[in-house]
Amino acid sequence: MRRGLSLSGAAVALVGLALSLGACSSSSGDSSNSAQTTVETEVFTWWAEGSEKAGLDALIAVMKTQHPTVEFVNATVAGGAGSNAKDVLNDRLLANDPPDSFQAHAGAELTDYIKNGQVQDLSALYDEFGLRNAFPKDLIDRLTVKGRIYSIPANIHRANVVWANPAVLKDAGVDPKATYATIDDWIAALAKVKKSGKIPLSLGTTWTQVQLFEVVLLSELGAKDYSGLWDGSTDWAGSDVTKAITDFQTLVSYSNDDRDDLEWPAAALLVEKGEAAFNVMGDWAVAQFEADGKKYGTDFTSFPVPGTDGVFDFLADSFTLPVGAPHPEGAKAWLETIASPEGQLAFNKAKGSIPARTDADATQFSVYQQSAIKDFASDEIVSSLAHGAAASTTVSNKIGEAVADFVSGKTDSAKFQAALVASVA
Ligand code: GAL
Repeated sequence: MRRGLSLSGAAVALVGLALSLGACSSSSGDSSNSAQTTVETEVFTWWAEGSEKAGLDALIAVMKTQHPTVEFVNATVAGGAGSNAKDVLNDRLLANDPPDSFQAHAGAELTDYIKNGQVQDLSALYDEFGLRNAFPKDLIDRLTVKGRIYSIPANIHRANVVWANPAVLKDAGVDPKATYATIDDWIAALAKVKKSGKIPLSLGTTWTQVQLFEVVLLSELGAKDYSGLWDGSTDWAGSDVTKAITDFQTLVSYSNDDRDDLEWPAAALLVEKGEAAFNVMGDWAVAQFEADGKKYGTDFTSFPVPGTDGVFDFLADSFTLPVGAPHPEGAKAWLETIASPEGQLAFNKAKGSIPARTDADATQFSVYQQSAIKDFASDEIVSSLAHGAAASTTVSNKIGEAVADFVSGKTDSAKFQAALVASVA
């Protein structure tokens, strides 16, 4: 049954891609002839405001110069990490109403779309755009499923970062330059901040709680065993997962009570405004701090989550060509812009991420981004859970529910761990 489904999906994908490439070549051969023809491209993301919108706008501007006849149609659905967008997208795909391209995380998140025959194989575009050597091997491996590549990455983000407000720490008697070898060491600093009356650790809605849990798992288990959680070689019922749950519970107890009401920009803002000392967030946060005029090293600092130094908890935003996309020619233009050196430079400068392309000029980026570029090249790479690299949407939704129940006090540690075991079963 499943076999039949995936075969027909692949067949549809091949026909779709052949059609789309044919359509593209007929009008892109001579740009002067096609100058009057306007083609739409409806692009689906969750980059609705702030620095995320700034990143999207930067890409749109590059596409306008590279493909002046393509009209960008913005199908953005707000909600960090795609928390609302993914459901809306699913409904559209099920109703055979796909956009021309949609945002999806590189890695396991793509597997459901691929299995359901909802996205086209873009291998031919990798050859046409010369992308096979443009992206790091690690990334290409995570994008490749049975020899095919179904999306084009726009960036690389890091999830295991703590953002800190040095002034708040100083007032609390915590050395802003201190480093913490373990979560336990860090908890001692959180206790001091609490005494000072500030929020020790700002936290937001469920997906940010999942991200916090993910980095605590990474800290307790180390890179190898953390990765084993996703390939079945690490036991979710093990004592190191139990310890991670205990630490996670302690960290949550040092966070703001209104966490469930806050999206990531609001949680990061608490650090920015000096109401909280620390926030764990992906490095899209640096883009917000800097867009608000804050200076890295003075107004805010960052360090890898304690116990995860030398490990890069990776995710990448990538874009697809859905089966049945109404304007494949427009989608191709969008994908070409995303992949291009100009597109990656403009987008990542605004977004806080680093270019997926290895030929980007690092000196064009901020101090933080330059350090991320160095770390990505030398660190051990693991896949983010909250941001679609480690697990399929089905599994990560189940883990999300388990985290929400635990944080809200509906379940205790033992029930939480049992729910985690069941999530991946
Ligand atoms: C991630 C996404 C980032 C950023 C973040 C917060 O899933 O990859 O680009 O948008 O969510 O919304």
